[in-house]
Amino acid sequence: MRSVITGSGHYLPAQRLTNAMLEQRVDTSDQWIVERTGIRERRIAGATETPASMGVAAARQALQAASLSADQLDLIVVATTSGERAFPSVACDIQAALTSNNIPAFDVAAACSGFIFALSVADQYIRSGTYQRVLVIGTDALSRLCHPDDRNTLILFGDGAGAVVLEAGQQGGILSTHLHSAGEFADLLGVQHPKRHEPEALSEAWMYMKGSEVFKVAVSKLSELVQETLAANQLDASDLDWLVPHQANMRIISATAKKLKLPMQQVVTTLDYTGNTSAASVPIALDVAIREGKIQRGHKLLLEAFGGGFAWGSAFIEY
Ligand code: COA
Repeated sequence: MRSVITGSGHYLPAQRLTNAMLEQRVDTSDQWIVERTGIRERRIAGATETPASMGVAAARQALQAASLSADQLDLIVVATTSGERAFPSVACDIQAALTSNNIPAFDVAAACSGFIFALSVADQYIRSGTYQRVLVIGTDALSRLCHPDDRNTLILFGDGAGAVVLEAGQQGGILSTHLHSAGEFADLLGVQHPKRHEPEALSEAWMYMKGSEVFKVAVSKLSELVQETLAANQLDASDLDWLVPHQANMRIISATAKKLKLPMQQVVTTLDYTGNTSAASVPIALDVAIREGKIQRGHKLLLEAFGGGFAWGSAFIEY
């Protein structure tokens, strides 16, 4: 049994944060941000928006595209690391908004790679025959975890959500997923939870990042990962129709495309207007390319992501 993507959707908040606006807030420039990252603006969740509400909006679009009602779902898996609460999970909030059926709903935490990890989890349930229809969502509001004065992180992150409906099918679909983690890099990128038992440490509850070190590991691990994915499927990069990468930095994306010798015309990019939306990044890029008619049925897609943990992963899909 294969997991076939039968619908996709995404949601971006209306509020824009441009490089020019960031110039007013911290010591940076539009030119520096564009040259070093490729990002021109990002969307920021409004006061009443949450990872759950954005996830619901993306999910509704995906369900509509799949011509499915939420009541027909067997499982909801949500990739996020920015939920409003430690528990209940964001997945439970999304389930409550979509259906009164008591289907299982849970979160997967793998930072920017969360969607790939969630997709892999969902795929195992479908392959094993346990479930037939699974909603997979990536949703994050990482802009809220960046210190308002930290130009290091502030310039990179935006908010949003993306979703796919997976259904059991005989042909195509997810052909392989590849996941890796390396917890020893925890000090390079992360966000502390507020320590309620140590109120004086509350000020440490912001994202920390050693950008250039993250950059180097990301480029090296992603280039190994894409080769691993192709080898596992006995493919050459020329067999690929699209690379759908995590939207972190245009220079990281270009390095991965170069490793694959894939022209940039075959690489889906949204980061110039989304920034890095963490777990939402890959499903947003995927849905945008599907809705623009670039990705078509039968196309071979390589999805990849890298993020905090470190955790990185890929999926090879015949759409
Ligand atoms: N605006 C202007 N100047 C900045 C700046 C900013 N926001 N941030 C850093 N600088 C300055 C530095 O102070 C440094 O100045 P110096 O040369 O006078 O010392 C210079 O720019 C270069 O800094 P560096 O940190 O080496 O830049 P970089 O080329 O590594 O780019 C990142 C920084 C963060 C854009 C890049 O490292 C990156 O994208 N890393 C990966 C981060 C990531 O993707 N994280 C999420 C993973 S999912």
